[in-house]
Amino acid sequence: MKTIKLGVNIDHIAVLREAREVNDPDILQALYVACESGADQITIHLREDRRHIQDSDVENILHFSKLPVNLECSINKEILNIISNLKPHRATLVPEKREEVTTEGGLDVFHYENEIAYAIEQLHDSLIPVSLFVDPSIEAMEQSKKLGAEMVELHTGLFSNLFNMLHSSLPYSNHSIKELEFPRYELSERLEDALHQIKLSAQYAKKLGLEVAAGHGLNYHNIDEMVHISEITELNIGQSIIARSVFTGLSQAVQEMKKLTAR
Ligand code: PXP
Repeated sequence: MKTIKLGVNIDHIAVLREAREVNDPDILQALYVACESGADQITIHLREDRRHIQDSDVENILHFSKLPVNLECSINKEILNIISNLKPHRATLVPEKREEVTTEGGLDVFHYENEIAYAIEQLHDSLIPVSLFVDPSIEAMEQSKKLGAEMVELHTGLFSNLFNMLHSSLPYSNHSIKELEFPRYELSERLEDALHQIKLSAQYAKKLGLEVAAGHGLNYHNIDEMVHISEITELNIGQSIIARSVFTGLSQAVQEMKKLTAR
């Protein structure tokens, strides 16, 4: 059986740690558990605002990881210099806005073409292969190839959001996605379109000689659609894995603490 490479995004462990500004949970422990449990790659994002992953985390993870490390970063010069020195197995260029909760939308490979071309050149000079995190479109695949990337990661955020609005109780919750509050038939049509767009882009990217990854918002319910797109060779997943681990681990964590409360 041929499986897709699973990149486990462990930023979310650092989100929890930084929320209390303590050293718990330990990101290196997350690295070891992910490695031991079948991950094929570790993905982390060194953001300009350092809201979760810190420079020391990147250094430690690169030092201790038994798996390739896919380091996400923006095209900011200071960040690129750091990444070039650290030499991860791959850099994935992503857009970054201070006010966003997570990476919303793919890189604008047209508006920032000069900056992206320069970033790719700098990373290549340091022998770091480059992936571009882009929205799925034929034009973005062509432009990514033209700019010199080896790989694209297709942003699956729209697909995932539509899937969740159609197939879960999300529309009835406080976290309903306002701009996607459509009748079910329309959600269904839009979901088909989003999936079609991902498939077309993956096929086209492969034809151009680009490696194809996908990620963002993928979870235990919607992953199946991605797994069946043969051109996609890698999925990068964070939130849903870390969220699930709370519930696969909470019972044991409570039991361990309860035992310690026995006099
Ligand atoms: N791929 C990229 C490029 C990302 O920026 C992110 C989010 O950090 C992911 C994958 C993982 O997204 P999620 O946490 O929604 O699974």
